Amino acid sequence: MMDYKQIFNAAPDVQASAPGRVNLLGEHTDYNDGFVLPTAIPQQTTVHIGYSPNDRHHFYSANLEEWVDVNPEETELKGFAKYVYGCIRVVETIGYSVPPVNIFVSSSVPIGSGLSSSAALEVATLRGLRSLLGLPFDDVKLAQLGQQAEIQYAGVSCGILDQMACSLADTEHMLFLDTRTLKRQILPFPTGAEIVVIDSGVARSLASSGYNQRRSECEAAAQQLGVRALRDVSDPQAVSQLPNLLRKRARHVITENNRVLQVLSGVSAEVFGQLMNASHASLRDDYEVSIPALDELVDIFQNMPDVFGARLTGAGFGGACVALVTAGKAKAVSKQVLTKYNQAGHKGHILVD
Ligand code: GLA
Repeated sequence: MMDYKQIFNAAPDVQASAPGRVNLLGEHTDYNDGFVLPTAIPQQTTVHIGYSPNDRHHFYSANLEEWVDVNPEETELKGFAKYVYGCIRVVETIGYSVPPVNIFVSSSVPIGSGLSSSAALEVATLRGLRSLLGLPFDDVKLAQLGQQAEIQYAGVSCGILDQMACSLADTEHMLFLDTRTLKRQILPFPTGAEIVVIDSGVARSLASSGYNQRRSECEAAAQQLGVRALRDVSDPQAVSQLPNLLRKRARHVITENNRVLQVLSGVSAEVFGQLMNASHASLRDDYEVSIPALDELVDIFQNMPDVFGARLTGAGFGGACVALVTAGKAKAVSKQVLTKYNQAGHKGHILVD
């Protein structure tokens, strides 16, 4: 693989990295002001940054072997460059000037599996710019800027889950986050358990249209319930008067928030696993963001010894499943599950074990 020096013919001034994330519980709750529970994964995205010798930004992605030159007036970019440039633009929007830079990107975070490769790229880029330019923002502000880059320059009206996870989580703990107040708590994994993540091999499709549609359904449900956001309702019975579709969407969000809050009180691996199973059923039946391949993969996990529970993770419509398994068994379980899943004609692969 190429490095910064081979591409730009000079040494970089700074280097920064950020991990991908997997969400353990609290799916489709963040844009409802609710609660989430992600952890970081070992795979990281790294940027090397140096000053550009001319008046343009130059970006290079080692994974994609793609080079992009950006004029100062550029407004629309494609692919990885829109995330990188989006970060530069949001930093400028809050009043800092960014001189022309060279940015070299390399990453081991899988793209399109729901493990936040885009947020990892945003957080790594912003960390790199922060250290290159001595910018004064903290890790929470940095996550918020990353979210703005995603919304304004990548066109996804996402919540704050991914960028907060990539900016603040580590691989040894779970990060409980209240997405309204941004209050957070670092929690240990359930005793005697570790995680496995397997990609279904089905690329996410309809992810952005389905995502935005769910988002507006939730807003409509909150409005009909007379609350600012679905986070303000904790009793699942409260949705009984809503029309069928909105009732299902709201019930998922309310029960999912309750599941995350239950973890805060400290639960065993067994109970945590049951909450994950319930989360999957809710995402499948009420929120309708699962697909048959994800259901099959989750089913194989759930029927395997040493598995406490499993669910789809990320936005859904394809992507990956996460499972909580007995400590020390991750490698054995992932191998067995993958074999069984691929024997059924799929092309899954292991992402974390
Ligand atoms: C995507 C979004 C997040 C969150 C999840 C679903 O990853 O970027 O903000 O909404 O989907 O939980």
